[in-house]
Amino acid sequence: MRYTNKFINFNIGVVIFIVLYAFLSIILGCSENVIENKKNEALLVIPEGFPPVPFPEDNPYNEAKAELGRMLFYEKRLSRNDLIPSCSHCMKQANGFSDCTPISLGYGNEPEFRNTMALSNVAYRKALFWDGRGKRIEQPAYRSLFLPYILNGDTNEIEQKLKADPIYPALFKKAFGDSAEPKAYLIGRAIATFVRTLISGNSAYDRYLRGDKKAMNESQIRGMNLFFSDRVNCSKCHSGFMFTDESFHNTGIVTHYFDRGRYYITNELSDIGKFITPTLRNVEVNAPYMHNGEISTLEEVIEHYNSGGKEFINKDTLMKPLNLSQQEKQDLLNFLKALTDWEFINNPKFSNPFH
Ligand code: HEC
Repeated sequence: MRYTNKFINFNIGVVIFIVLYAFLSIILGCSENVIENKKNEALLVIPEGFPPVPFPEDNPYNEAKAELGRMLFYEKRLSRNDLIPSCSHCMKQANGFSDCTPISLGYGNEPEFRNTMALSNVAYRKALFWDGRGKRIEQPAYRSLFLPYILNGDTNEIEQKLKADPIYPALFKKAFGDSAEPKAYLIGRAIATFVRTLISGNSAYDRYLRGDKKAMNESQIRGMNLFFSDRVNCSKCHSGFMFTDESFHNTGIVTHYFDRGRYYITNELSDIGKFITPTLRNVEVNAPYMHNGEISTLEEVIEHYNSGGKEFINKDTLMKPLNLSQQEKQDLLNFLKALTDWEFINNPKFSNPFH
């Protein structure tokens, strides 16, 4: 009965979200065009129960653009000396379009300064990056081309290389219109369009919610009930279909926050050490964890929450010792694994087209 309730709650939640979204779009004259929830696009497929994907008005969806974006996402020639396969160097499909190192190494093994966040379902996010400083996917997609610690490219050189290529000029025309030619800002737009098609919503948990009661085993179901319980509180922050409230919290990962997180954006002392709640979809394949890659395994993450986290002045009041039994820890772990969408991780339509 309780599981049925959860299914109904989830659906009611989704319905309320869609109604509110439609309502706000009308009231605010929302400047986004929305791809309807239908399953006929080759790249963009919206799972049942997920809201429509919002695309910005100045960069609307079309299939040719998404396909071009996919090629550019994997294109080595965007990096200086054609050294690394652009975005996919740090955002690997096998890791849920994230990285398996604590801190990703970009061009010339220059480190980024935080753990790479997973790209799946990023189309729905209102705030990008761990401190929420980003708003539009187009921006990092474009800036990565020339940032020295990412691709370290020269935009003029990149444009020349693509113009001289036998296929790219035609693909840019198909994507952006007959007068278009390879331009750096269009690269950003094409990649952003592809990235917005990376929708993941077919985990065992999703199938369970859609009525396949065998999709999760007993332990995973117990873990799910713990996750959503008032005793364990995970879903207070990891909420909604994305498993994030898109808010900023301190969870006591360390006792000294050299990386001040949200504070860099707001300058509020109460924001020191706060980071955005990350999605938990595909978290199993996205190790290591947290903004600094501090925690290596999901077992250790659960121990961290069980302990209530380390002391820090801005630590969230929800962070307190949980006194989980061994079985409960195992159940929570198994539930987190039920959030892996293997179809998405292995889907050839998102993989490297040059292989
Ligand atoms: C107070 C809000 C809050 C609560 C409660 C909470 N989380 Fe989190 N969770 C976060 C934030 C914020 C981060 C990122 C923290 C950081 O990097 O400093 C995070 C990170 C994680 C990560 C790492 C994800 C990644 O990709 O790096 C996992 C796994 C996780 N939480 C699972 C859980 C589980 C399981 C529970 C319940 C036992 C829980 N969380 C409770 C806010 C919360």
